[in-house]
Formats: sequence, C-alpha cells, structure tokens
Amino acid sequence: MAQSNASSGQRISLHGNWSSRFAFILAVTGSAVGLGNIWKFPYVAGQNGGGAFVLVYLCCVVAIGLPIMMAEIMLGRRGRRNPVETMRILGEEESGQPIWALVGLGGVVAGFLILSFYSTIAGWTLAYTIKAGAGSFVGADAATLSAEFGAFIANPLVTGFWHTLFMAMTVLLVGLGVEEGIERAVRFMVPALVILLLLLLGYAITSGDFAAGVEFLFKPDFSKINGAVVIAAMGQAFFTLSVGMGAVMAYGAYLPQDASITSTSFAVAAADTLIALLSGLVIFPIVFANGLDPAEGPGLIFQTLPLAFGKMPGGSFFGVLFFICLGFAALTSAISLMEPAVAWIVERFDVTRQAAAIRVGLIIWALGFLTVLSFSHLSEFQFGRGTIFDNLDFLAINVMLPLGGLMITIFAGWVMCRNSSADEIDPDAGRLYSIWRLLVRYIAPVAVTFVLLSAFGVFD
Ligand code: PHE
Repeated sequence: MAQSNASSGQRISLHGNWSSRFAFILAVTGSAVGLGNIWKFPYVAGQNGGGAFVLVYLCCVVAIGLPIMMAEIMLGRRGRRNPVETMRILGEEESGQPIWALVGLGGVVAGFLILSFYSTIAGWTLAYTIKAGAGSFVGADAATLSAEFGAFIANPLVTGFWHTLFMAMTVLLVGLGVEEGIERAVRFMVPALVILLLLLLGYAITSGDFAAGVEFLFKPDFSKINGAVVIAAMGQAFFTLSVGMGAVMAYGAYLPQDASITSTSFAVAAADTLIALLSGLVIFPIVFANGLDPAEGPGLIFQTLPLAFGKMPGGSFFGVLFFICLGFAALTSAISLMEPAVAWIVERFDVTRQAAAIRVGLIIWALGFLTVLSFSHLSEFQFGRGTIFDNLDFLAINVMLPLGGLMITIFAGWVMCRNSSADEIDPDAGRLYSIWRLLVRYIAPVAVTFVLLSAFGVFD
C-alpha cells in the first residue's frame, strides 16, 4: 500500500483532509484539552508540592512538549499515513530502516493503556453530571462530598457502567470517521468549558482562599524539586499536549500542505496550558478554604468542584453544564487516543473503520476494568508504584510517552535530513526553524533521557 515512489511532501493522503486549517487546530485542541488539564493537572500538582512542580511543568511544555508536537505534526503530514506506517515509510526513506515503525507501534500500545484508565475517569464525570442535576451537591460540606465520592468509586458495577457508556460513545465517534463530530464538538465545548471555568474562578476568588491557592500554584519552593517531581512534571507535559504516542502524528496526516505547523502548535500549547492553570486556580482556593488535602489524589476535583456547585446560585445547573463539557472534552481526547490504532488497522488490514473501532474498543474496554477495580475491590492490591491504576498511569504517562517522544526527537532531529524537516516546517528555514531544530536535536532528547534515567535510579 505504501506509495514509496511519491515525491516527499506531495504524497497523496490515504485519508481525507481536514476541511480547513482551523478544523485541524480544533481537532488537535480537542485532543490536547481534556481530563489532563482539569482532572490530572490539579491533583498531580497537589501531590508534588505545587509551585515547584508547576514551574518544571511549564519548562517541559515549552522546551520539550512544544517541539515534539511540531515534530509529530511534521512527520504525520510528510508520511500521510497512520503513525506506524508513517514511521515505517519515513524510516525507510530517510535511513533505509523500516524498524522505525516500532515507534508507531509503541504509541498504539500507549494509547490502549492510557485510554483504558482515561475512560474510567471520564465515566466518573458522566456520573457526576447526573449527581449535579439531581441536586445532590446542594449545601453539602466537604466531609459529606468526600464520603459520597468514596462510596461511588467503591462500587465497580456503577463505575463500570459509566466506563462502558463512555467507551461506547468513543467507539461510535471513531467509527464515524474524523471529520464528523470532532470539529463541531470542539468548536462549542472548549469555549463553553473556559466560560464555566471562569465562572468557577469567580466563586474561588470570592468564596475560596484565593491567596493561598495562588501562592501554592505559583510560589515555587525549590527545596521541593526532586527526581520524582521532575518526572511527574515531564509526564504531565507529554500527557496534556497529547504527544509521544502518535495522536498528533495521526491528525497531522490529514493536514493540508499549506497550513503552518509552527503557529498551530503554539496556539494549541498556549490554550492547553492556560486551561490547566485556570483549573488549578479554581481548585486550590477551594481546597484551602475547606481544609482539604491538596495531595488527595485522583479524587481531588470530584470533591472540590461539587463544593462550589453546591454553594453558588444556580449551582446545579452550572454543575450539569460543567460535567457535560468535561465529558465532551474527554471524548475528543479519547477519540485521538484511539485514532493511531484504528487508522493503522484500517490501512494495514483492510477492514472497515467501524470494525476496527469496535475491536480496538473492546480490548480497551476490557482493560479498563483493571482501573475500575483498582479503585474498589482491588484497592488494597498494591505493588511497584501503588495500585494497578498507579502503575498503569506511571508506565504509560511517565515512561512510554517520554520514550516515544525521545524516539521522535531522534528521528526528526538526527535521522531525518535537514532539507526534509525544513521543507515541512518552514521552507524559508527562518529563526523559528533553527530554534526548533536546536530544541529537537539537543535540549529535548538530553532532558528526556536524563529524567528517564533518574526515574530509574541510575543517578542514585
Ligand atoms: N491530552 C489529553 C488530555 O489532556 C490526553 C491525551 C494524551 C490524549 C495522549 C491523546 C494522547 O486529557
């Protein structure tokens, strides 16, 4: 199927194309903005001491995540295939080594692992939509809401049901194809989510301990920086930007040749980072005003946001809207987590998109019960990093994404010849291109290698 004789840059896409550059920006934004910003960022920042973590995270976004995002889009658009095939073709073209396909395959596996727990948490947001609508947060205090959350996750039948529903929606949308659905959902939901976050920010400023929240997030205590904080911050940067596993590469394959990779990546990374910081600015003032623990973990937003919705006027209404938007944001990310695997199976094994989506979805759905159970019956079953969820999360986000990203920097910066990458990113090879090349060749790979080695105790 490979059209290896096609001239580079002009390869005809096997897939369709985005209807416009703006549609592509929406799709990548939809992939980037999700549970990573609103659920994970606050709780990981909380577990890692706040300001120092946030600072390292911001550095990782700029110096590692952003250049890798550009590299992924560039490779995707040049290969014009699913990530496995793209890496195989480009590997062959640039170095005679089709083995680079393994980078794409690693991404497919990482996508499976991430989506398996992502769907469980997304299921929680669906359930919380109903809870908000039923008025169950009204007037509740922190202790009541924590107890309610604890009882909720302890019931695998209920959380398993919501996980199933979320996976079914994901499979449906992926089966329908990329152009439909995603664009429209993102165009509406991301702005709505931002407006609702601003509303919550108003609550956090007036009723929360805003000063304590700001200080926690933005006043770095450098003594808190250690290997664990750095690896957490780097993993978070990869996760929140959707890079390191081929999601952005898969979307890049549909990008028209005349769209600018640089400005698209900047816009997406900026929006994604602002939404995460906004979410932190909402959560922590509520945490400190109510005597909650910032290091609470994955349940943090499910115990803090209901407090705000329970106390503000119209809170049930806004609560429903918020959790719906968060569910949609999670959906547009989940779609991109499945896209590399589905595009690969469709193009490689010649099955329909629907059939591929159903098969991939079934495997991920089954895997998801590991996470469902690790918050209930298997919560005592601990090894390595903690529960099964903790281990999956660490392996996928803190190890596999950085490893995938490292390979992408090596390929884009060292294996691929300068003309090829300049041709895609910026034919004039201006200053931005030189900065990108410097980051991708030296800064990003060295930093990622160093952090990964230290995570495995090589420097201890
Ligand atoms: N970036 C998404 C989020 O923040 C998660 C994601 C990771 C999506 C990796 C695709 C690939 O929710």
